[in-house]
Amino acid sequence: MKTIHAVVEGIGHGIPSKVLTNDDLSKIVDTNDEWIAQRTGIRERRICTEDETASTLGVIAAREALDHAGIAPDDLDMVICATVSGDMPFPSTSCLIQDAIGASKAGAFDLGAACAGFIYATATASAMIEAGQVRNVLVVGVDVLSKFVDWTDRSTCVLFGDGAGAIVLHGRTDTDRGVLKTVMLSDGGGAEHIKLEVGGSKYPMCSPRHGDHSHHIFMAGREVYRFAVTAMGDACCRLLDQAGITAEDIDLFVPHQANLRIIESAAKRLELPPEKVFVNVDRFGNTSAGSIPLGLYEAERDGRLKPGMVVMTVGFGAGLVWGANLIRW
Ligand code: UT7
Repeated sequence: MKTIHAVVEGIGHGIPSKVLTNDDLSKIVDTNDEWIAQRTGIRERRICTEDETASTLGVIAAREALDHAGIAPDDLDMVICATVSGDMPFPSTSCLIQDAIGASKAGAFDLGAACAGFIYATATASAMIEAGQVRNVLVVGVDVLSKFVDWTDRSTCVLFGDGAGAIVLHGRTDTDRGVLKTVMLSDGGGAEHIKLEVGGSKYPMCSPRHGDHSHHIFMAGREVYRFAVTAMGDACCRLLDQAGITAEDIDLFVPHQANLRIIESAAKRLELPPEKVFVNVDRFGNTSAGSIPLGLYEAERDGRLKPGMVVMTVGFGAGLVWGANLIRW
C-alpha cells in the first residue's frame, strides 16, 4: 500500500484591522516603545473590536486557505481549531467555523494547547490523514487574548495580539511533500506559570468561589522565558534527531512569535543564519495559536516558502506544552 502524506495545499490568515502601537500602549500603562522593543522585539499588535472573535478571524483564515487549496468546503472531512480563547466554552469554535464556511460533511473539534496549539493540531490532522481515516482537514490556529488581558498589567498587556492562520491538509500518495515529523511535549508541573483561572469548572465565572481568582491572564514572565529558551531548542533538536537530518537541512525556521530574544536564542543554538529565521513578532506580538500559521502564511506570501522546501516550526506555551513540526512544504 502506498504511503499517504498530509500535504499543505492551502494557507490563509485572518487579522483584525485595528493596530495598537507601543506608543498607544504608553498612554494606557506605564511603559514605553524603547522598553517593549528592546525586551520583546514587538512594535505593534492587532486587536479585535467587540464584534470580532476567534471564530470570525478563523472563518476569514479558513475561507482564504480553502480558496488557495482549490478545495470546496463540503469536501472537508474534519475541522480542527486550535485555540484557548474560543468564542465560548461550548459549542466549540470549530463548529462555528464549520457552519460559517459550509463544511457540511465535516466533523469538528477544538484543541487546547495554547501557543503550541497549531503544532498539536497539525500533528493530529496529519496522523488522521496518514491513517487513511480522512482526506481533507482544515486546521485553524487562532487566539484573541486581548480580551483576557489585564490592561493595567504592563508586564503582560504589551505582549499579546490577536490573529488567526489556517491550512488545508490533503492526503496524497504521489508526492514526498507533507508533514514529515512531529514532537509534542508537556510539563503540567509548570501550570502555575501561565494561567487564566476563572471561567472553568474550578472557578466558574458566576460562582462565589471565583472570589479573588483572576479572570485575566497571569504570567510569571521570567520563569516562562527560562522555560521557553530551553524548550524551543530541545524540541527542535529532538525533531531533527528523529527525522535523521541536521539544522543545515532546514530551509526555513518558523518559530512561535512570543519574544524576539527567545527566537534569537533558539536560532543561535541551532546555528541557523538570520535569513532562515522567520520573524513577524514586531508587527503582531504574541498571537498564541495564531502565531505559527500566520508566520507560515506571510513566509509563503513573501516567496520565502516554496513547494519542496523543508520548514521547521516550534511552539511553547501554557500547560506547559511545547512541540515542533517538520514539513516538506
Ligand atoms: O507564549 C508564551 C507566552 N509568554 C512568553 O513567551 C513570555 C516570556 N517572558 C518574556 O518574554 C519576558 O520575561 C518579558 C518580556 C515578559 C519580561 O522581560 P524581562 O526582561 O524578563 O523583564 P522583567 O520581568 O525581569 O522586568 C524587568 C523590569 C521590572 O522592573 P524592576 O523590577 O527591574 O524595576 C519590571 O517591572 O521591567 C519592568 N517592566 C516594564 N517596564 C516597562 C515589566 N514590564 C514592563 C513594561 N514597560 N511593559
